[in-house]
Amino acid sequence: MVSVKSLLLAAMATVAYTAPTCQPAFVPTLPKTGGPRELPPPPPSFTLKKIAVGHGIQNYTCIDASSSPKADGAVAILYDVTKFVPGTPKTGIPQALWDKIPSALLLKPLTLNKLAGSTYGAHATKPFPKEEALKLLGFPVAEFLGHHYFDINSTPMFDLSKVGLKASVTKLDGVDAPANADKGPLKTGAVAWLQLGESGKGLSTGLTQVYRVITAGGVGLKCNVAGAGVHSVPYTTFYWFF
Ligand SMILES: *[C@@H]1O[C@H](CO)[C@@H](O)[C@H](O)[C@H]1NC(C)=O
Repeated sequence: MVSVKSLLLAAMATVAYTAPTCQPAFVPTLPKTGGPRELPPPPPSFTLKKIAVGHGIQNYTCIDASSSPKADGAVAILYDVTKFVPGTPKTGIPQALWDKIPSALLLKPLTLNKLAGSTYGAHATKPFPKEEALKLLGFPVAEFLGHHYFDINSTPMFDLSKVGLKASVTKLDGVDAPANADKGPLKTGAVAWLQLGESGKGLSTGLTQVYRVITAGGVGLKCNVAGAGVHSVPYTTFYWFF
């Protein structure tokens, strides 16, 4: 027979085990490049809403072989990695593993719908495939979160359709990626880390700033290599949404 006393003790143990702790909510901090100047951190009053890993292309236009590539839009698929950020109680992953997510993802084939006859170019009007979670070997599954693209006015847009957040942005600041950053499959280099602010065009919902950090790939080819016209370079990165 189970005694009343032992039942009582078991019940008390359960209560003690599930009692809420009074620790403040964990707040992750933006990574730093370690370079001579860092991106300004978001104001302390800003709330981190989501962290995504993005996989897509950066587009560049070359006027002719002797010009410099001009950045000309981007498209990317965003996956939700918020709960895996190191330090998150229970679901956070080790820092070394986290830092490898963009590089690991860049090794995967692009899942954007292809532009016929191009290696990395995305379909002009229907670049996005069916919404699917990201399954990277050795990493927890990341749910689909949304899309990054440039709208008809060439304004960068983040549509986190899964959670109803949107950011129409303009560049506030940028710093070079660290020298040891992943240069991508074309060996061109990792695009700059950016601080992006709300564009003021009335197109955002629930977001005021976006940071692009821990970039991999994405720098344009030299125009004497790419030739005249538009070329696309694959990239991955983390986006932090405030
Ligand atoms: C990027 O360039 C490809 C061609 O490489 C094109 O099909 C695609 O529409 C372009 N996307 C954007 C957002 O400019």
